[in-house]
Amino acid sequence: LRDDSSIHTSFRSDNDAGMAPPILAALSACNEGAARAYGGDAWTRRVEAQFEQIFERKVGVLLVTTGTAANSLALAAMTPPWGSVICHRLAHVLHDECGAPAFFGDGLKLVPSASQGSKLDPVQLQSELRHGAGDVHSVQPTGVSISQSTEEGQVYECTEVAAISQVCRDNNALLHMDGARFANAVVALQCSPADITWRAGLDVLSFGATKNGAMGAEALIVFNDKLQETLPFRRKRAGHLMSKMRFIAAQMHAYLENELWLANARHANAMAQDMARGLATVPGVRLAAPARSNILFVQFPASMIVALHAQGFDFYHERWGEGVARLVTSFRTTEAMVEAFVSACQQIARANA
Ligand SMILES: Cc1ncc(COP(=O)(O)O)c(C=O)c1O
Repeated sequence: LRDDSSIHTSFRSDNDAGMAPPILAALSACNEGAARAYGGDAWTRRVEAQFEQIFERKVGVLLVTTGTAANSLALAAMTPPWGSVICHRLAHVLHDECGAPAFFGDGLKLVPSASQGSKLDPVQLQSELRHGAGDVHSVQPTGVSISQSTEEGQVYECTEVAAISQVCRDNNALLHMDGARFANAVVALQCSPADITWRAGLDVLSFGATKNGAMGAEALIVFNDKLQETLPFRRKRAGHLMSKMRFIAAQMHAYLENELWLANARHANAMAQDMARGLATVPGVRLAAPARSNILFVQFPASMIVALHAQGFDFYHERWGEGVARLVTSFRTTEAMVEAFVSACQQIARANA
């Protein structure tokens, strides 16, 4: 086991970062006195008002404690048990949620799209949404899920979300967005949260806060009223209607207050840009794609990965092929951490030259 000092050299996950200080303070502050349970408290009302302001309209808001719960409940609400949801081949919902969407969705099927690159392609999606439609022997394609920002750190432009939602509408399918890193996408795109969601045709969003400064707080933002009819019951049945909801709501309130969510994401994205610039100077190291949000995929000489780990730098690399590593920055990443990493890469490259 590594001790706490490893956080100073960790690019493993934005989940490895702790809480943003204003969120920690909010948890303590909301501890005073009694508050109505199960979301009947004032913090929950304030969060609902904040989201209505952020999204410039009335929205359904359901707080939960994990992204897996948010995604699974959303997909379950929009899909019949015999339905399928098309997602990216690397989607978190497909690979990293232990079958929770199928569990909560009474057997709904996740189908990886054959889209190339790190985003879903509307043309490809068009044929995939028609595949098996009306055939009683096949699962019925009734939904699509996209991640914003994506698992590879890329972002869907507003026009790309709109093109996907148009294909969904043309095929009677609904559209979900896994926004575990929604803040990073909003900052990268410099667009309004409304433009990239409901104005682009989105039905439901999993709005993440945990990776970007909360302890454990995520929100389902429901734009399609039909989904709101069953979601409160689904949340309770899933065990995510927290009795002491004020502690989840207080986190989310502090996260949204004074645009902390955007400031944190701006910082994380800027650190990824710094990292990308630094790594571009290291011989033998190549970025898979330009830095857009807070995740970079980098091709290293395999021996450099071993040497970096030996020096205590922590990051994932086993999943994507020989020499490919994922580097994730967060609101906690400092310029010094990035410099230390880049200069270690430079030294290793020199030693191996
Ligand atoms: C793309 C994406 N979606 C959702 C999640 C949420 O997962 P969790 O259930 O661990 O909060 C994650 C966390 O790693 C993620 O990377």
